[in-house]
Amino acid sequence: MFETLKEQPADKILMLMQAYREDPREQKIDLGVGVYKDASGNTPIMRAIKTAEKQLWETETTKAYTGLAGDPGFSDAMVKLVLGDSVAREQVAAAATPGGTGAVRQGFDMIRMANPKARVFVSDPTWPNHLSILKHMQIETVAYRYFDDETRGVDFAGMIADLQHVLPGDVVLLHGCCHNPTGANLTMPQWKAVVDLLLEKGATPMIDIAYQGFGDGLEADAEGVRMVASSVPECLIAASCSKNFGIYRERTGLLMAVCNDPARQKLHQGTLNYLNRQNFSFPPDHGARLVMMVLQDEALRADWALELEEVRNTMLGLRDQLATELQRLSGSDRFSFIAQHRGMFSRLGATPEQVTRMREDHAIYMVGDSRINIAGLNKDSVPILAKAIVDAGV
Ligand code: LMR
Repeated sequence: MFETLKEQPADKILMLMQAYREDPREQKIDLGVGVYKDASGNTPIMRAIKTAEKQLWETETTKAYTGLAGDPGFSDAMVKLVLGDSVAREQVAAAATPGGTGAVRQGFDMIRMANPKARVFVSDPTWPNHLSILKHMQIETVAYRYFDDETRGVDFAGMIADLQHVLPGDVVLLHGCCHNPTGANLTMPQWKAVVDLLLEKGATPMIDIAYQGFGDGLEADAEGVRMVASSVPECLIAASCSKNFGIYRERTGLLMAVCNDPARQKLHQGTLNYLNRQNFSFPPDHGARLVMMVLQDEALRADWALELEEVRNTMLGLRDQLATELQRLSGSDRFSFIAQHRGMFSRLGATPEQVTRMREDHAIYMVGDSRINIAGLNKDSVPILAKAIVDAGV
């Protein structure tokens, strides 16, 4: 039977991770997968997480199942972190998932269940795995313009023009902050214009927020999501704890279904529980428990927020250094967008050939669309990258 299976395309980001590992050159720079790295290239366990882990080891007395939606304390803490006071807790159904990707997948499943004909509008470009999962689930996608290749900022006029085509029953997938792969983000007036348009068209927003705290800060990064949640009749929000808690391999995420009619919360919660049960039963608990412990304990939370700020500021510093170095080497301001972008990524706007040249000549690994992970740099590798970019003729 299985001989009928076809080869599946390898994930480009994960393939790059492998190619980097196999490159024998001593001086190489990994700007591929979205994982935070410190100046020595390590991905540290955050202090508060390590402390919570020790406490958990001391105090945990059972590994029995939690609930289908995970521990309610985790949901409560994460709903508050992402949504603040924008909506009442009773308006939100929430279920823990295996990572942010799991939340995205469960969200798409809920959409398909509610409306098998729903089309999902996705930014061009978007995180490639959004497209891959949607294709696998046979959900129709429609791309909307998002990135202006000239300015390397948001093509907002193009975005709004393309979103004019959404219909009631369609879903518009938005990035909550730190757009992946471009690093170009909506301003608050732009968020408002998108919300107004979706309200007018009767389409449903779904927001993927995987980098809260990496852009302009924990609160500022959630502003767009909060505005959407408090303005529309219903929306889905997929949140990841992988990056901002640094617990990538623990697979910790949360899917939230927000509705302005609290009477529907029970139905939504039942649907999320059901979908978890069908797809994997109980969600992983370890990472979720650590996040809950950190968010519930004042001292741990303060230390976590402080470390997250250190991470954010390190990335901002690297952005400034790279933009300045490129300005110096190229004698032009055409790379100033790097300092304006936010989050872990920036799309440089290099051609696939230029990306290949940088990999072959300088052992610099970035995604084929020229997405770089800023956190893969340190103050010594910034000048190497800047020179490679200018040499490649970007
Ligand atoms: C990325 O975009 O590099 C990250 O979200 C990791 C992944 O799973 O692709």
